[in-house]
Amino acid sequence: MIRSFPFTVLLLSLTACVAVAEDSPWDQPTPALAKPQEMTVYRSPTCGCCKKWMSHMEKQGFVLKDVPSEDMEAVKAKLGVPDYLASCHTAVVDGYLVEGHVPAGDVKQLLTGKKTSALGLAVPGMPAGTPGMEMGGKKDKFSVIVFDKQGNADQFHEYAKY
Ligand code: CU
Ligand code: CU
Repeated sequence: MIRSFPFTVLLLSLTACVAVAEDSPWDQPTPALAKPQEMTVYRSPTCGCCKKWMSHMEKQGFVLKDVPSEDMEAVKAKLGVPDYLASCHTAVVDGYLVEGHVPAGDVKQLLTGKKTSALGLAVPGMPAGTPGMEMGGKKDKFSVIVFDKQGNADQFHEYAKY
């Protein structure tokens, strides 16, 4: 029995490798965080793409606190997400908001960039192809928007081709 144990472990890791090979292009490594970064994610309990985005963030080194909420509109209003930038989930990391399917690499860039006037990043709506919204070859052009408390918004990163 004892001798068969390592074999079981090998089998398990092979299975894991197969699963990883089918994963999203967004799971390519991005620069490591200096320390594990905690992120609170508010999402509707029935949202599937939210969970997929959360798994993307976890793979990229974020430590998530999952907060299912029945009233996401109220959560967004309370946190200060502008209506026109709204998506499905809303996350809070290091005092910044992350609205929707923002790639982990952009969140890391915001965190390391000391853009102190920013309130957060958003990918409005739910463009196909974004992390958590993978749909085979379908990839919408999309932009990550940076916004502040005063209502200013600017393009942070344009994904025309990815
Ligand atoms: Cu979504
Ligand atoms: Cu979501």
